[in-house]
Amino acid sequence: MRSNRFNRTLMAAAAVSAFWAGSGQAAAESLTLYCSVQEEWCQAMVNAFTAETGIDVAMTRKSSGETFAQIQAESGNPKGDVWWGGTGDPHLQAAEEGLTEEYQSPRLAELQPWARQQAESSKSRTVGIYAGALGFVYNTEIVAEKKLPEPACWADLVKPEYKGEIQIANPNSSGTSYTALATLVQLLGEQPAFDYLAQLNANVNQYTKSGAAPATAAARGETAIGIVFMHDGVTQVVGGFPVKVVAPCEGTGYEIGSMSLIKGGPNPDAAKKWYDWALSPAAQEIGATANSFQVPSNTGAKTPPEAPSLDTVKLIDYDFAKYGSSDERKRLLGRWDSEIGSKN
Ligand code: G6P
Repeated sequence: MRSNRFNRTLMAAAAVSAFWAGSGQAAAESLTLYCSVQEEWCQAMVNAFTAETGIDVAMTRKSSGETFAQIQAESGNPKGDVWWGGTGDPHLQAAEEGLTEEYQSPRLAELQPWARQQAESSKSRTVGIYAGALGFVYNTEIVAEKKLPEPACWADLVKPEYKGEIQIANPNSSGTSYTALATLVQLLGEQPAFDYLAQLNANVNQYTKSGAAPATAAARGETAIGIVFMHDGVTQVVGGFPVKVVAPCEGTGYEIGSMSLIKGGPNPDAAKKWYDWALSPAAQEIGATANSFQVPSNTGAKTPPEAPSLDTVKLIDYDFAKYGSSDERKRLLGRWDSEIGSKN
């Protein structure tokens, strides 16, 4: 009885392998994805892609600056195939440093001009997948309890009454925080921006690793204010937390969330399948189902009604080519380390 069952199992296994050999199919395709948006969205994308294509995805979620550093460190023996999400500046730096592959998706023509611009300025080594404006959030209960004024402008955040009340990420690991650094330099000029950051430092209770972490902290009442992308604040509002999202009165910067193919990655065919799929309207509408409310880059994808409108926020003319260049990003981060980071 037992040996009969064993034989049947063996025969079934042989039949399965004969099927694969007969159909000429190799082992299931796989893909290694480096993901730099919120974990929930990364996971929803992976599940949908695997369900649609049968391609197995090994996904790691890391912040934009961290992922850039990892791809750079692995460039002698690349392990990842696609870098999906995260702010555009480090994607541009990766392009300039030859860490990513040139590719023009057949879907390029469907994209918003800002998303195509990202491809043009990188010689097709990266492309825009979403956009979102920088701002901050505050916990309305803490602000009321501590009788703090409601912050509305960048200038408010350096006031002494907010001492120890603000959280922002470290710009080395986080693309959000690098966007804030580059935004302040463009809004105020470089020296005044570093003077501002030194004053802000006195009010910062923690420099987090990930850019959206200060929004979660504000929602949970661990900090009064978090400097984050406005859509990351909206996620907390939708989650029912007592936070308000602010578009700074002086104007603000924004990100073009991007995607790149890693040069020399082990699965280039599967990587291109992900790339084309991720630019489709259906794939871009997954964000909102995972509580991420950016503006999608495909003109055919619905913008979630919760997404902060880029038309009503006062946006600066963010110079992506300059602030995404290797020299400028390294220089600004170096200056931040020596004048701000090293003081903590
Ligand atoms: C969040 C935002 C994304 C942004 C990303 C950058 O996930 O929702 O829009 O691109 O942060 O992450 P980082 O941790 O690098 O600041």
